[in-house]
Amino acid sequence: MDTIKAYVQEHKERFINELIELLKIPSVSADTAYSQDVIDTSEAVKASLEKAGCDFVEICDTPGYPIVYGEKIIDPNLPTVLVYGHYDVQPPDPIELWTSPPFEPVIKKTEIHPEGAIFARGACDDKGQMYMHVKALEYMVQSNTLPCNVKFMIEGEEEVGSKSLGWFVERNQEKLKNDVILISDTGMISNQQPSITTGLRGLSYVEVEVTGPNRDLHSGLYGGAVANPINVLAKMIASLHDENNHITIPGFYDNVEELSLEERAEMAKAPFSLEKYKKALDLNDVYGEKGYVTNERNSIRPTLDVNGIWGGYTGEGAKTVIASKAFAKISMRLVPNQDWEHITELFTKHFTSIAPAGVTVKVNPHHGGQGYVTPIDSIGYKAANMAYTETFGVPAIPVRSGGSIPIVALFEKELKSKTILMGFGLDSDAIHSPNEHFGIFNYLKGIETIPLFYKYFVELSK
Ligand code: BES
Ligand code: MN
Ligand code: MN
Repeated sequence: MDTIKAYVQEHKERFINELIELLKIPSVSADTAYSQDVIDTSEAVKASLEKAGCDFVEICDTPGYPIVYGEKIIDPNLPTVLVYGHYDVQPPDPIELWTSPPFEPVIKKTEIHPEGAIFARGACDDKGQMYMHVKALEYMVQSNTLPCNVKFMIEGEEEVGSKSLGWFVERNQEKLKNDVILISDTGMISNQQPSITTGLRGLSYVEVEVTGPNRDLHSGLYGGAVANPINVLAKMIASLHDENNHITIPGFYDNVEELSLEERAEMAKAPFSLEKYKKALDLNDVYGEKGYVTNERNSIRPTLDVNGIWGGYTGEGAKTVIASKAFAKISMRLVPNQDWEHITELFTKHFTSIAPAGVTVKVNPHHGGQGYVTPIDSIGYKAANMAYTETFGVPAIPVRSGGSIPIVALFEKELKSKTILMGFGLDSDAIHSPNEHFGIFNYLKGIETIPLFYKYFVELSK
C-alpha cells in the first residue's frame, strides 16, 4: 500500500487537470438555464468511472436529473462499498464577489492552503471530493489492490433536495445492496487534525409570502393606513426567536435530543479557537442560543434562519412605495429525533397564526430531510479512523456537523446500512459562497486515504 503515495505523486498533475475539466462544466441544478450542463456533467462522470476501471457504468434516467451508477464486482462473497457523491453544484451568485470566474478553475495559494487550492464552484462541494473516489478506484485497479466490490451512485440533484435519488433508491434496493456507504461531502477540523463526521442536521426549508393590498401603493397616500407586508413580515420573522435566541414555535423543541454533560464535555475537547473563528469572519462577537457554545449551536442544536428576503423596491435610488407582497426563504436545521415533516407543519401553523389582520400569509414547503447520527464503534468508523491515522499521523476526532445531507437517513432506512462520512474539506473552503476552493493537499490526501479505508474495512469485516 505504500505505493499509493508514489502513485499520487506520479500522477498528481493529471489528477488536478482532470478535476479542473470537470469543474469547467457549470452543473447548477437549481437553475434550468444550466440543465444541458448538468446532463453533460453526468456524461463526464460516467466516462471517468469507465476509465478508472468500473466494469459496468450506466446513466440512470429519473424524473429529474440522471444518476450515474457504476460498479466493479470482483467477488460476490466479498464486502461491497457503495460510494455516494453529487455532481451538481450551487448557483455561483453573487458572481461579482468572485476573484476569478466560478467556472474557470484556477489554482491560488492561501494562508490555509500554502500548496495551493483550486478555486471554482463545486471544487469542494462536491465534485472535488467525489472525484477523489474515482481516482482512488483508478489506483486500486491499476495496482491490483481493490480488496472488495465497489458501487458508485453519483447524483445531480443534491443541492436541490435529492428528490429523484429517493425515487431511485426505493426502486433499486437490490442493485444498491452494500455493506457500507462511503461519502466525502463534509469537512474536517484542519489539515493537521482530521475528523470524521458522526452527525448531520436535518432540514426543513420553506418559502413564505405575505400579501397586503392588491397592488403596490404610493407610500405617502396609503402609508400608515394599510398593513405594509414588508414591515409585517419583518416583525413576524423577528418574533420567531425570543431574547435568549430560542425558537418560539410551539412544540419545536419537543423531540430534541438533549446531550448529556459527558457528551458535551467530550465535544468540547475538539480543538477550536473562538478568537480565530471570529477573526476569520471579521466578527466582533458570536451570536446564538443562550446556554450553548459555538460548536454546540452549530451542530447539536436546531436553528431557524432566513436565507433570503425580498419585496418592494430594491433598485437604484428611491421609490416611495408600499409593496403588495413580501417574501422570505427560511431554513430550519434540525437535530436527531425531530421529524422534518412535523416541524414543517408546526412552522406553517404557527406562522399563519401570528399574521395580523390586514395581510394574508402563505407558506410553501420546499424540501427537507431527517438528521443523522452514526456510532463510532462500527467497523466502518474504525476503518476510516485507521485510514486517517495512517495518512495524517494522528487519529481522527468524531465531530457532529451542522450541515445536512438528507439522503443519508433515507439510505439507512431503505438500504439498511450505515454511512461513513469521510470529508476532506475545511470550513474555510467557502462552499456555497463566492470563491469556493479545495486544497490540493486535501484533494491528494483524500485520494491517498480512501484506498486504506477499503483495506481496513475488508480486514475488519473478516
Ligand atoms: N455537502 C453539503 C453538506 C455539508 C457540508 C455537510 C459540509 C457537512 C459539512 C451539501 O451539499 C449541502 O449543501 N447540503 C444542503 C442541504 C440540501 C438539502 C440542499 C445544506 O446543508 O444546506
Ligand atoms: Mn455537498
Ligand atoms: Mn452543498
